[in-house]
Amino acid sequence: MNKYIIDPIDLTVDEIDDLVLLANDIKKDRTRYQDICNHKIMATLFFEPSTRTRLSFESAMLSLGGQVLGFSEAASSSSTKGETVRDTIQVVSGYCDIIAMRHPLEGAPMVASEKCEVPLINAGDGGHNHPTQTLTDLLTIQNEKGRLNHMTIGFCGDLKFGRTVHSLLKAMSRYENVKFIFISPKELRIPEYLKEDLLEPMNIQYKEVETLEEVIGELDVLYMTRVQKERFFNEEDYIRLKDTYILDLKKLQVAKKDLSILHPLPRVNEIQTEVDEDPRACYFKQTKNGRFIRMALILSLLGLDHEVERL
Ligand code: CP
Repeated sequence: MNKYIIDPIDLTVDEIDDLVLLANDIKKDRTRYQDICNHKIMATLFFEPSTRTRLSFESAMLSLGGQVLGFSEAASSSSTKGETVRDTIQVVSGYCDIIAMRHPLEGAPMVASEKCEVPLINAGDGGHNHPTQTLTDLLTIQNEKGRLNHMTIGFCGDLKFGRTVHSLLKAMSRYENVKFIFISPKELRIPEYLKEDLLEPMNIQYKEVETLEEVIGELDVLYMTRVQKERFFNEEDYIRLKDTYILDLKKLQVAKKDLSILHPLPRVNEIQTEVDEDPRACYFKQTKNGRFIRMALILSLLGLDHEVERL
C-alpha cells in the first residue's frame, strides 16, 4: 500500500475492497483488535476545524490500543509563527508512527509528504480531496447495497467546492456500471476538470440538472452536501445559495424504497430532521462507519492488518 494517502486514487480498487472487508470484520467484534497498536502513536494535525474526522481518527487509534497527540486548530501550533507545513510534518513525524492532517489549502498534504518519515493521511485539503471520508462512504454504500457497482448516484448541493464529492466521484468511477447525476445550481456545478479528465475519457454516463425533484426517483444513492460558507469569497452569494436544496419527507415520496441517503455531515438546512427517522437515512450510520474504516486504514498503513484472524 502507498505510504501516503493524499487522494482516493492512491488506493487501488483491490486495496479499497480489502479495507472494506477488514472494517466489516472489525465491526463484528472490535475487541479482538483492541491491543494491536499498543505502543504506537498517531498524530492528528488539524489546521482546519473538524468534529467527525479528527475524533473518529482518535477513537480509531485508541480503539486499537494506541495513543494520540496533536492539535485541533492552527492557532495552537507554530504555524502562527510562520513555520511551514513541510517543516511541521517533518518534525512531528519524529514523534509518532502515523499522521492524519487536515489543511485549508489544496495540495498541503502533498507538500507535507515530501519530508514525512511515517505514513501520512490527508484528512481533507481545501476543496480538493478527503480520501478517508470516501472510504467511510464506500463502506456505508457497500453495507447498505451489498455492492459498489451497478448503481445511479446523485450528488446534490455544493459540487464545486465539495471535496467529499470530488473524492467519492474519483473512487466510484472505477467501479462497473455506475452512473452519476449532478444536482446543483449553476454557480456550484461539478468542476470541468472532473468531467473532462475523469468521466469523459472513461465513457462514464453522467448528467447535470438543477432540481432534485426531476431525478430523485432514478437514484439508488443520494449524496447530499452542505453549501460551505467557509469556501465562499462573498457572503451575499452564500446567503442566496445556501437553501437551494432542502430534502424533506415530501420530496422522498417519489424516491425508491431502497434509496440510501448519505451526507458527510455537518448538515445545516439541507436535510430536514424529519428525514432522520426514515429507514433510507444512512448518514448517522455513515459517521459510525468512519471509525471502523479508519481503524482498518491505520492497521493497513502500519502493516498490522493480518495480526488478527478474521471471523
Ligand atoms: N465529514 C467531515 O469531514 O466532517 P468534519 O468536518 O466534522 O470532520
